[in-house]
Amino acid sequence: MKIAIACDHGAYEYKEMIKEMLLSQGHEVKDFGTNSTASMDYPDVAFPCAQAVANGEFERGIVMCGTGIGVSITANKVKGIRCALCNDPLSARLTREHNDTNMLAFGQRIIGSELAKEIVNVWLNTPFSNGERHKMRIQKVMDIEK
Ligand code: RB5
Repeated sequence: MKIAIACDHGAYEYKEMIKEMLLSQGHEVKDFGTNSTASMDYPDVAFPCAQAVANGEFERGIVMCGTGIGVSITANKVKGIRCALCNDPLSARLTREHNDTNMLAFGQRIIGSELAKEIVNVWLNTPFSNGERHKMRIQKVMDIEK
């Protein structure tokens, strides 16, 4: 799968960890930064990462910051993006089944590293349920973007 990833300084370590895991699984990964723990502004990386997913260059995007909140807010400003902030595997599964999310967010200051990896794996490997009621609800969300 082609996956775009990004983080701010608050999640630099997890971004590197997740990138390594995805590459070891054979995914194609583009890293939108940041590339150190020096303080920076999360919209500067989350926005281009989300744009690259929205324009079809990447199938999925994963964004991280201290809480996961700033990057998820930013990603959801981009038309076509449905970014879910997930701090547990059940949310990761259900947001794929119900919302067909194309981006995932979580916070390095909120969850442990093994949980972060589990959430990513569940989210990447769970298909959309394709249920009619879910498709209709997603369409309603997309209609708001028009
Ligand atoms: C940075 O200090 C922090 O605000 C950021 O990583 C994130 O948690 C914002 O939502």
